[in-house]
Amino acid sequence: MKKRKLGVLEVSAIGMGCMGFTHAYGETPSESDGIALVHKAFELGCNFFDTAEMYSYFKNEEFVGKALKELPRDKVIISDKFWPEKFEGHDFAEEKLSEAGIRKSLEGSLRRLQTDYIDLYTEHQMDDGTEEQVAFIMGKLIAEGKIRAWGQSSPTLDQIKKAHAVTPITAIQSEYSMMERKWERDVIPFCAANNIGFVAFSPMGNGFLSGKYSSKDEFKGNDVRRVITRFDPKNMDANQPLLDLINRFAADKEETPAQIALAWVLTGGDFIVPIPGMRKESRIRENLDAADVELTATEYAALTDELNKIKIYGTRSGKDIKKLGTVPDNVNK
Ligand SMILES: NC(=O)c1ccc[n+]([C@@H]2O[C@H](COP(=O)([O-])OP(=O)(O)OC[C@H]3O[C@@H](n4cnc5c(N)ncnc54)[C@H](OP(=O)(O)O)[C@@H]3O)[C@@H](O)[C@H]2O)c1
Repeated sequence: MKKRKLGVLEVSAIGMGCMGFTHAYGETPSESDGIALVHKAFELGCNFFDTAEMYSYFKNEEFVGKALKELPRDKVIISDKFWPEKFEGHDFAEEKLSEAGIRKSLEGSLRRLQTDYIDLYTEHQMDDGTEEQVAFIMGKLIAEGKIRAWGQSSPTLDQIKKAHAVTPITAIQSEYSMMERKWERDVIPFCAANNIGFVAFSPMGNGFLSGKYSSKDEFKGNDVRRVITRFDPKNMDANQPLLDLINRFAADKEETPAQIALAWVLTGGDFIVPIPGMRKESRIRENLDAADVELTATEYAALTDELNKIKIYGTRSGKDIKKLGTVPDNVNK
């Protein structure tokens, strides 16, 4: 598997989003099946695994800890996200983003992940006015060897600049795909110009871009696709021109639509690393193979040019996901 550099971290060009193993996409695999899938991804060259303390209120970290424990620690890159606000299991609401609050979050994460350092530690939700303070604390944690690098999730350009001036940011983690391109306006160019990595979450448009779902599919339980407007049946039908475009390129290149969707994200810059969620061996193989799909400059420009003409219907927003009642009320993105 090709590698990419996120500051000091050398990661596989495509990482594995581990959220779905316990959270967000309806029925989850058994723990042993999930662990076997993580190991399969590793065997196929993936070394970059993303989790967060808030996914299933700490259970996702516990799962990832068990899965990665059986792999050589120096061969895996753990991406974890902190959010020391009060939610089930946290009893230090007042401390929030203070040094004490972040340290408690980190100690809990290290315990659940069964490790003594986190490679990439990302602020999961931004809080205006705290950027410099959080960046300063991150600098201390890096100096202590508790984390190797840090990042912010879904920050504005202004928030990045404030924090980056205090302790250089290694990677931003935000939604980026052929369906969600808003960060192209300012954040992605800033990352490119300032040697900051960009970890693209939901690069498959929550699965839509694979072309394997239709407006007739039913999603159950805590599946976010019940509430995000991207999966509203009307919007799925309205987004058919996007799938037609991807299908056309996929047929020409003899690749799958999912691979074209990931290759397009990868071709946006060598500092961009998509982390699709995937819970079947066939999908893991399909997605990781996308690292070898080459889009020439002409193909990328043609695909992007066509994409620019297509209106996208629906989004994936925190506000909609809240309707499931599976995330804390203080989620605001
Ligand atoms: N920083 C943040 O705020 C934030 C927010 C959301 C997510 N994330 C991170 O980003 C990761 C990925 O995001 P995501 O899971 O929302 O988005 P995604 O990768 O765009 O979508 C995942 C969905 O697409 C399906 N899928 C993936 N590859 C497929 C393929 N080749 N064919 C058919 N279906 C396919 C998956 O199916 P199965 O899983 O059922 O196989 C799953 O239902 C998460 O795991 C998490 O680590 C971060």
